[in-house]
Amino acid sequence: MAALTMNRSWKKVFDEFKEFMWNPKTREFMGRTGSSWALIIIFYLVFYAVLSGIFALCLYVMLQTIDHNYPKYEDRLSYPGLMIRPNIPSLQITFNRQNTTWQPYVDGINTALQDYNQSTQQQRGIDCTFQGYFRQDNITTPKQACQFTRDLLGNCSGLDDTTYGYANGTPCVLIKMNRVIHFLPELIPKFSNSSITISCTGKNDNLLGSRVYFPSTNQNMGSIDLKYYPYYGQWAQPNYTQPFVAVQFLNLTQNMDHNVECLVNAGNIVNDNDRDKFQGRVYFTLRSNS
Ligand SMILES: *[C@@H]1O[C@H](CO)[C@@H](O)[C@H](O)[C@H]1NC(C)=O
Ligand SMILES: *[C@@H]1O[C@H](CO)[C@@H](O)[C@H](O)[C@H]1NC(C)=O
Ligand SMILES: *[C@@H]1O[C@H](CO)[C@@H](O)[C@H](O)[C@H]1NC(C)=O
Ligand SMILES: *[C@@H]1O[C@H](CO)[C@@H](O)[C@H](O)[C@H]1NC(C)=O
Ligand SMILES: *[C@@H]1O[C@H](CO)[C@@H](O)[C@H](O)[C@H]1NC(C)=O
Ligand SMILES: *[C@@H]1O[C@H](CO)[C@@H](O)[C@H](O)[C@H]1NC(C)=O
Ligand SMILES: *[C@@H]1O[C@H](CO)[C@@H](O)[C@H](O)[C@H]1NC(C)=O
Repeated sequence: MAALTMNRSWKKVFDEFKEFMWNPKTREFMGRTGSSWALIIIFYLVFYAVLSGIFALCLYVMLQTIDHNYPKYEDRLSYPGLMIRPNIPSLQITFNRQNTTWQPYVDGINTALQDYNQSTQQQRGIDCTFQGYFRQDNITTPKQACQFTRDLLGNCSGLDDTTYGYANGTPCVLIKMNRVIHFLPELIPKFSNSSITISCTGKNDNLLGSRVYFPSTNQNMGSIDLKYYPYYGQWAQPNYTQPFVAVQFLNLTQNMDHNVECLVNAGNIVNDNDRDKFQGRVYFTLRSNS
């Protein structure tokens, strides 16, 4: 009895559905006549065409306001920070000159300098002999780059001493200033009239011993020539080579941690901000064991 009622109601549902799909009396497909369907399809076609038109227009207008050479929204530091190479997250360099505990640091410097061979630089950049900034504001992209070749790093170039001093207990550390697009560092005339300068001091400076910089000013400070600025960004200046300053520690007192602070000296870079310890400076620990 129950099965029969169910069957009957099932058949009813099926018939109603069939009639909904195609009603021969009114000639309606899914409740609408052909012309009604045609109208609704045309309506949606026009509707979506207009919608995508508006979207494309918005996108087009947005893209017109974008300058490929300059990020529209910059959340980066407006003052550059400093970094060291070898790139060690702990900023602690500890080695023993007798065995190859320094090999990771040597590898790190090799990696940092892999594009700095003369042959590579001659392909990528031009030999800039002028003084001052290398402004290319009115030059279409790609913009040119000044060469920075390994040999500028003197005894830290890896050309004569492939261990960058580590095997002699006179380690080299490379310092670079982070790139900030369009930034023009300003000179401090009492230090140099052609470059900004970098200097490193130890917390206990006498025990840190004497140090030399490559390239350097005649006051024994590291020097970064103004011709490497401004940087126009990866898109506009793909061949840009970041300049380095190498500092070599010649008379490190052995078996102790040296806390080293390196600063960049430029008229418009803050390097003593208590709240940002990496603005215009960098700290690392250096230890040579014996
Ligand atoms: C390097 O040599 C020192 C002693 O000269 C030793 O204490 C240390 O364990 C050695 N390290 C490695 C990785 O061989
Ligand atoms: C760059 O020069 C160094 C030292 O002359 C050499 O060891 C290295 O293989 C060269 N690298 C490239 C990429 O040519
Ligand atoms: C960039 O470097 C490549 C070689 O690596 C060179 O062919 C190209 O001309 C350089 N571009 C500019 C703008 O100097
Ligand atoms: C770039 O061109 C503008 C106008 O054409 C000029 O005023 C400006 O001095 C030029 N800048 C440089 C760096 O040549
Ligand atoms: C570079 O190394 C050579 C050979 O060891 C040495 O004579 C020279 O004084 C060093 N230069 C500097 C600036 O330390
Ligand atoms: C830079 O130039 C000024 C003015 O010409 C001069 O007084 C100063 O000594 C120069 N600085 C250096 C480091 O030569
Ligand atoms: C190296 O430093 C020691 C003190 O740490 C000092 O007595 C010595 O004169 C220094 N040597 C050189 C060449 O500067």
